[in-house]
Amino acid sequence: METASARISTRCHWWSHTKTVTLIWFISFVLFYSFFHMALQNSSQNYPSSGGITSHSHIPNGERRARLYDKMARDLDDHGAAFLKQGETSQSLLLSDIFTLKDGAVTPVHKAANPPVRANVLYLSPKYSVPISDAVKRIFSPHFDKVIWFQNSSLYHFSMFHASHHISPVPATEDEIEAEATAVRAVAEDLCPLKIVLDRVILTSTGVLLGCWQVISGTDPMTIRAKLRTALPNAPEKQLYDPAILHTSFARLLGHPRASPTGPHQLRFLHELVESLNNQIRGSEEAVVSELWYVEEYDVLALALDGRMKVRKFPLECSSV
Ligand SMILES: *[C@@H]1O[C@H](CO)[C@@H](O)[C@H](O)[C@H]1NC(C)=O
Repeated sequence: METASARISTRCHWWSHTKTVTLIWFISFVLFYSFFHMALQNSSQNYPSSGGITSHSHIPNGERRARLYDKMARDLDDHGAAFLKQGETSQSLLLSDIFTLKDGAVTPVHKAANPPVRANVLYLSPKYSVPISDAVKRIFSPHFDKVIWFQNSSLYHFSMFHASHHISPVPATEDEIEAEATAVRAVAEDLCPLKIVLDRVILTSTGVLLGCWQVISGTDPMTIRAKLRTALPNAPEKQLYDPAILHTSFARLLGHPRASPTGPHQLRFLHELVESLNNQIRGSEEAVVSELWYVEEYDVLALALDGRMKVRKFPLECSSV
């Protein structure tokens, strides 16, 4: 009896020992796996791009952009037209705090940005922006009397990278700003002009009408952003956009279309307007982008709302295109 119970007790010890070892191995594995996973994620955040190699290194940049645009195109159906829900009571426009009606015209309310936002944007010349702007106005004006703001066609731009933005302000002295501008100029010298084509127009759930572009040749936006990140080491870690995106905003809808159906039909009506714009301008003509701008925006959304700003323009000087 004694020996039997001793044997059982030994076996119990052996079992509990094995269990402990197993548990320790299991915990180690879980910890290792989590750290490994975190390390992977960190490295993909720290090195968002080196040319075509990205955090999704098996996906080419053009494909990554197309998937992003697919997702953005679903935003209006997924989230509904939020810009219509804010202000059902009166002129919904007035409820948006960045616009007002002055002499019957939509007028932006300029608010000082403190500190000024410092944005790097690619510039789309009026040669390409004016025909787009005309088409946008032709299709949307008749339906959005006084509840639409059109982007100034002299200021069509693609946001690339912020040295400071409203979410993570990075104050800078005049000397530091000069140094940033010099660094950006050096980046521009290495960039090749982009030949691009309008992939599609999208209306977001917040009412922004966006042009989403694909790159035919030239330096990819992923690479441009990576170079700017290196050149501007103090810039906010978290930027505002997906590094693959190449988009311009065409207009902002601020309220209900006139004499349009309500409910789900209204959403369909909006889709139809976007579709007819797409039919007119999508894929129509290649555009060439050959300037990088370093912009100090003294007013909130100065580039979008014709606010006060200081622009430094740098040509893209690589000669391979
Ligand atoms: C559009 O932008 C240009 C260039 O900044 C400016 O001269 C013009 O006044 C702006 N147009 C409007 C309507 O604000």
